Amino acid sequence: MALPALSFFATAESVQMIGAVPVFVDVLPDRPLLDPAQVPEDVEIVVPVHLFGMRAEAPPGRRIVVTDAAQCLGWGHGAPGGVTSALSLYPTKTIGVAGDGGAVLTDDPEVAALARAIGSHGMSAPYVHARWGRNSRLDAVQAAVVLGHLPELARRAAARKAAAAVYDAAFQDGPVAPLPRHADDGVHQYVVLCPPGRREVIQAGLHRAGIDTAVYYPAPMDAQPVFGGDGRSACPNAAAFCARALALPAHEGLNHEDMARVITAVMESA
Ligand SMILES: Cc1ncc(COP(=O)(O)O)c(C=O)c1O
Repeated sequence: MALPALSFFATAESVQMIGAVPVFVDVLPDRPLLDPAQVPEDVEIVVPVHLFGMRAEAPPGRRIVVTDAAQCLGWGHGAPGGVTSALSLYPTKTIGVAGDGGAVLTDDPEVAALARAIGSHGMSAPYVHARWGRNSRLDAVQAAVVLGHLPELARRAAARKAAAAVYDAAFQDGPVAPLPRHADDGVHQYVVLCPPGRREVIQAGLHRAGIDTAVYYPAPMDAQPVFGGDGRSACPNAAAFCARALALPAHEGLNHEDMARVITAVMESA
């Protein structure tokens, strides 16, 4: 199964959990998304990941069983060419639960029944176990939390996009480089590329100004110790991205003054 080298590790884990072999594909040179042209010919299934809310393209003619849509809730990116998306409802997401949770979106009733059965010990009817499953139910308290947030989804998604537009305008001439976004991209994380070798300095400057930042992700997935390598990635675009990426605060809780403070801190520390 082909997947982008750049994602949260859970994407690779889900491939491994079904006994398939993850085939890591490099990302595009200018966008942190799977490069469809680099998917090997002999790989039948592709797992697209809409990273940071940006819409990933899949190579034509390949099968997509599930799209990793953990970071695109709120922008309507269904699975390109498929019918099923996996969501995370972890609290950092645009809407989330009060702990851990997730969901599957599908318009296929058979997939919905299968997902319900797998998540509830393989039960197709009360105490009828037609297949193996697990305990992966969203408990009622967490479901109530996310349903409470649901009416906020569109407003929060729009606020993230509006924050990104403010930062894009501020940084269009540097010192950091916004990611090129397409009209139908959403914004889950607002990530910029720092000049080579400057990320830690910029991050420290923002930290001194009381501004939290994050690195998504420090390394491509194929460089993780679990693969037993020497920590180097075979995906140069993903590795170059990981060396320079920095996520700035961009969410509905920020006002224009907050964003101006972030921009000033970036300008002063870069
Ligand atoms: C792209 C991506 N895929 C998968 C996941 C896994 O989500 P969870 O930890 O809720 O299972 C995340 C979570 O952050 C994610 O960002």
